[in-house]
Amino acid sequence: MTGNIDPEKVSNAVNDIAEGGSAAEKWLPRRGGHSGAPLRAILPVDVFGQPADMDAICHIAAAHDLKIIEDSCEALGATYKGNPAGTLGDYGVYAFYPNKQITTGEGAVILTNDDQAANFMRALRNQGRAPGDTWLQHTYLGYNYRLDEMSAALGRVQLTRLQEMVLKRAQVADWYTERLSQISSVEVPQVAGKTTQMSWFVYVVRFAPELDRDAIAQLLGERGIPARPYFLPIHLQPYMVERFGYRTGDYPITEDLGKRSLALPFSSVMTEDQVEQVCQALHLVLCK
Ligand SMILES: Cc1ncc(COP(=O)(O)O)c(C=O)c1O
Repeated sequence: MTGNIDPEKVSNAVNDIAEGGSAAEKWLPRRGGHSGAPLRAILPVDVFGQPADMDAICHIAAAHDLKIIEDSCEALGATYKGNPAGTLGDYGVYAFYPNKQITTGEGAVILTNDDQAANFMRALRNQGRAPGDTWLQHTYLGYNYRLDEMSAALGRVQLTRLQEMVLKRAQVADWYTERLSQISSVEVPQVAGKTTQMSWFVYVVRFAPELDRDAIAQLLGERGIPARPYFLPIHLQPYMVERFGYRTGDYPITEDLGKRSLALPFSSVMTEDQVEQVCQALHLVLCK
């Protein structure tokens, strides 16, 4: 299981929501979020650098006249059946915070082939100035979401190193997988058949259900290995619980993955010795 959105469940949800009534209820927030507005878009996330199954999602979107916003923030450089992640829906998003494959410090970009939408988004990011507006003219209500020039300059240079970063990260992931796939209580990340290039964002393993992931992270920490429990599902974030009324049990597969997953130390500059050190520490902790 990749952890990406399941097209079959998307299809069920879209059909149920189109039908309305009680069929729709299980997919919608209990409170706050649903004003009866029609469903407009599907938002697949390319989790941990692996493209979502976009063929299936595009098929569903086309059948129901929905837009696709592809969140490829973690997957710049990845390809799906040879095509770049982020270019497969109506809109694609890449983010450039320093933990990403390449960085601009802060900031992000949106990709689209829709010129009208692109112009609108350019206006929104630039305090509502439409193309052709003067500096003191604001056709729309907008925001200051501009990526500044210094950050953009950094990004342009970083972009020349994207492929190098992708390959280095793939090497580090391979070192991990070689060592960890031997351990029966550890599930290593799976690469789907349609993923022609992973762009490893993080290296996340899952433990057998009977193991205590948080205790393992703690013991690794005591050995000087920083590992991060990955992570509280979005519907259980305090804001989402409070605002929309989601509860534990609403999305059991997500919750299960969220309880069993651990991100191991990972970067493009890790050496094979360092990977070995992490794997040995994990091995010792698991044998305790
Ligand atoms: C999948 C995904 N979407 C969106 C974001 C948000 O990006 P930013 O930090 O640039 O707002 C991130 C950042 O980590 C991400 O991983």
